[in-house]
Amino acid sequence: MCGIVGYIGYREAYPIVIKGLKRLEYRGYDSAGVMLYDGNDIKLSKTKGKVVDLEAKALKEISTNGTIGIGHTRWATHGVPNDVNSHPHVSNSGDLVIIHNGIIENYAPLKVELIKRGYVFHSDTDTEVLVNLIEEVQKKENLKLGKAVQVALNQVFGAYAIAVFDKKNPDEIVVARLGSPLAIGIGEGEYFIASDASPFIEYTSNAVYLEDGEMANIRLHKPMKIRKIKDDSLVDPYIQELQMNLEQIEKGGYDHFMLKEIFEQPDVITDTYRGRLHANEGIIQMSGVEDNLEKFLNAERIIIVACGTSWHAGLVAEYILEEFTRIPVEVEYASEFRYRNPIINSKDVVIAISQSGETADTMAAIKLAKEKGAFVYGVCNVVGSSISRETHAGSHTHAGPEIGVASTKAFTTQITVLIMMALRLAKAKGTLSKTDFHRYLQELEIIPEKVKEALETNDKAKEIATIFKNSHNCLYLGRGYNFPVALEGALKLKEISYIHAEGYPAAEMKHGPIALIDERMPVIVIAPKQGHYDKIVSNIQEIKSRSGIIIAVVTKGDTQVRGLADHIIEIPETSDALSPLITTIPLQLLSYHIAVLRGCNVDQPRNLAKSVTVE
Ligand code: AGP
Ligand code: GLU
Repeated sequence: MCGIVGYIGYREAYPIVIKGLKRLEYRGYDSAGVMLYDGNDIKLSKTKGKVVDLEAKALKEISTNGTIGIGHTRWATHGVPNDVNSHPHVSNSGDLVIIHNGIIENYAPLKVELIKRGYVFHSDTDTEVLVNLIEEVQKKENLKLGKAVQVALNQVFGAYAIAVFDKKNPDEIVVARLGSPLAIGIGEGEYFIASDASPFIEYTSNAVYLEDGEMANIRLHKPMKIRKIKDDSLVDPYIQELQMNLEQIEKGGYDHFMLKEIFEQPDVITDTYRGRLHANEGIIQMSGVEDNLEKFLNAERIIIVACGTSWHAGLVAEYILEEFTRIPVEVEYASEFRYRNPIINSKDVVIAISQSGETADTMAAIKLAKEKGAFVYGVCNVVGSSISRETHAGSHTHAGPEIGVASTKAFTTQITVLIMMALRLAKAKGTLSKTDFHRYLQELEIIPEKVKEALETNDKAKEIATIFKNSHNCLYLGRGYNFPVALEGALKLKEISYIHAEGYPAAEMKHGPIALIDERMPVIVIAPKQGHYDKIVSNIQEIKSRSGIIIAVVTKGDTQVRGLADHIIEIPETSDALSPLITTIPLQLLSYHIAVLRGCNVDQPRNLAKSVTVE
């Protein structure tokens, strides 16, 4: 996810690259590195840690002169954060240097082939494979850098924004993108490369944003050529005059990181299933699950431990895992689990869910479960985090850094991982028919499109937010798979707008909460067509008969609830099990707009921290 920066021109590259990496710090990262070329030698320094750590190390290790440079801030996907796995990576010959944002899905078979051809690898990253593949292509076919990059990229699957330098031809940098952003700043006698315009906006406002599947040869004193990677056809560069200021660039043009992250969900859900979900072949491939399949299949029980939004994702997983795999599942607040001396044995599998991978209560629950002999599996968003290192195995969500304190894309990518796990286990246990298994794979593959469609409810959510922004209390109701979504919707609202909100199973209303209903209490009801629809319609009627105000999330084209609710938000139809990935979207948007209208600090709500590393 992180950041790339490059410069080729007449200025000293080092200060531009270092300052540019700092400008990209908001994207979160775990390590950083820089390569400089001074006309004779390649100089390279890289380190685990922050850009300031890189500066300290670089000043000791290398001379920082040179008018060509590339730099990288890493958000590890393959290989834990350490010095060796940091970027830039160098090819075996020492001539080629690469920086890369994204994931090369098929790096493993490529690495095996390159090792057979005598290549040696020093890191665990997919990126080091790519730079040596480019070298192999260049040598075998005697190609210049640009063509070698193009041929190599046509052999890889995955996502990338790359910058590649060749000491043998030092007047150019080759860049390419697919799935990860890459902007080119065009100055007078100089070019800038970056993940977004923040590193170069102070030098030039003329920029070209590469489109997916495009690459460019950036050469000094020559016009930049943009080509399509697939067929080498030339593309006319569209040079934009940027009007954004630095802060707007960091937020991708959105007013807050939270809104940016809500809108990133189609892409990060895709990134999370990339390389794991092969719908056409009917395959789910998750190395952490494959390597421990027997433990899951022999489990007498699955215990899920988490906090906050991650705990809500665990509740969704309980419904999915039990329905798909028939393995009993319990979901525990980690903070309670760790202190109640739970009964655990070696036949139990514990799944720990955490975006940050640093939550103290979840970490303590993991340690307790391990002491009692359970196998512990992690679902984390941060590679190399404490929890991802403490668990026996795990699968990462590829949500990229989540800056907003209110968790949004972490929730949907956690559910994506858990759905894939449930499907894989169900296939192994034979508890899901082949037809249903394939149907779910196909549907999961197109979920990003449905999330995009659900994001189109943004204006409607904002309109409803203006009506209810001064409410003092709110009730969220859902049934089945959408009961955890009701809890999550309530948490979103209360944590960023400070309005008291509660989530309840809709049927639970008659056991007390219905006493709260009056014309001042908005009730948000999640009422998709799939899953207990008729029952939830009855619940809505009960509320209406007590002057309650209903805001309903319904399947597009719904008529019955439309006739009852005061406001409706329509979302695309999905199967019940996958519906939380869609129904949660309008609730995220509603809470966001209410908080903004109330003048709250959306990205850093009062009293809250992004990662609760204390008890
Ligand atoms: C959710 O919006 C909150 N930020 C909070 O509940 C969070 O989900 C919880 O602290 C758990 O954090 P984790 O996923 O990083 O472990
Ligand atoms: N997949 C690469 C790695 O793990 C790049 C990660 C990134 O985008 O920073 O090193």
